[in-house]
Amino acid sequence: MECRVLSIQSHVVRGYVGNKSATFPLQVLGFEVDSINSVQFSNHTGYAHWKGQVLTAEELQVLYEGIKLNQVNRYDYILTGYSRDNSFLEMVVDIILELKKTNPSLVYVCDPVMGDHGVMYVPENLLPVYQEKIVPLSDILTPNQFEAEKEHPRSLLFTAQVMELLHKMGPGTVVLTSTDLPSKQGGKFLVALGSQKTVKPDGSKTSQKICMDIPKVDAVFVGTGDLFAAMLLAWTHHHPTDLKAACEKTVSVMHHVIKRTINYANDVAGPGKKPSPAQLELRMVQSKADIENPAIAVAVRVL
Ligand code: ATP
Ligand code: PLP
Ligand code: MG
Ligand code: NA
Ligand code: MG
Repeated sequence: MECRVLSIQSHVVRGYVGNKSATFPLQVLGFEVDSINSVQFSNHTGYAHWKGQVLTAEELQVLYEGIKLNQVNRYDYILTGYSRDNSFLEMVVDIILELKKTNPSLVYVCDPVMGDHGVMYVPENLLPVYQEKIVPLSDILTPNQFEAEKEHPRSLLFTAQVMELLHKMGPGTVVLTSTDLPSKQGGKFLVALGSQKTVKPDGSKTSQKICMDIPKVDAVFVGTGDLFAAMLLAWTHHHPTDLKAACEKTVSVMHHVIKRTINYANDVAGPGKKPSPAQLELRMVQSKADIENPAIAVAVRVL
């Protein structure tokens, strides 16, 4: 059966972030992807230079209007990522509400990109839109630890309890894509956590909490959060009530792509040299086989 995704994310001419990180891997896995480019930049903002255009809320509305007039506004999934404009985000909310009316079983996968390591990289006034409108509409949420705690700045509870608070706001599936928590496997591992609430056919509720210890690579990758959200969409489609299985495949894809990327980057940079942002662009096309059929490389524990 055909499965159609509306992805509203950044476009870059060179490299892989936003829609460039999501479209190819989703298509390889058989999804139809309709993409709206929230920005069109030359490259991601981690380079020395970047230039380009930003789509306004009005321009977004016009694009959606065209889709709607042709009555092709029926989607199975909507995927959103980085946005730095309040009115744009409000328009995204309106579109999601309409799409959910058209298809009540539409699944909204939201990567609430706000910042990391204590630094906000979107304006502060986006936070209430996320808290009051976006998170309540989302079905699958992929914040990092910083973003998760932003939603609950007064919370002194443990990270697992932060996921409970996020569930209470709306999403049945929450994955903290990166945290500062220490790994049981030592300092060379990055901890990610997941939590899923499901309703069984008999109406009873169950929940699953999982922990992933991801081998850390000593480099900064860009576009990995976007690839993570796209792969979680794909693999929860195949395992809607088994977060462990979905995350095992998602994180294994990440592992294969990152390994191929760092090996290539180190090769082209040369011995003892630190790879540049251009050299560290994800090796996406080269990872096609790993995306289609990821060998399980990272074990996921049920907590
Ligand atoms: P957001 O996009 O919401 O800001 P994030 O900060 O968690 O999320 P990343 O830091 O890119 O996004 O991490 C997403 C995933 O990418 C991780 O779960 C991991 O699988 C992979 N990843 C990113 N950086 C590394 C790294 N240095 N070593 C190993 N894996 C990494
Ligand atoms: N979109 C643009 C234009 C960016 O410059 C970036 C990061 O620099 C991202 C999205 C997000 O990338 P990531 O998936 O690493 O969070
Ligand atoms: Mg991060
Ligand atoms: Na994330
Ligand atoms: Mg991100």
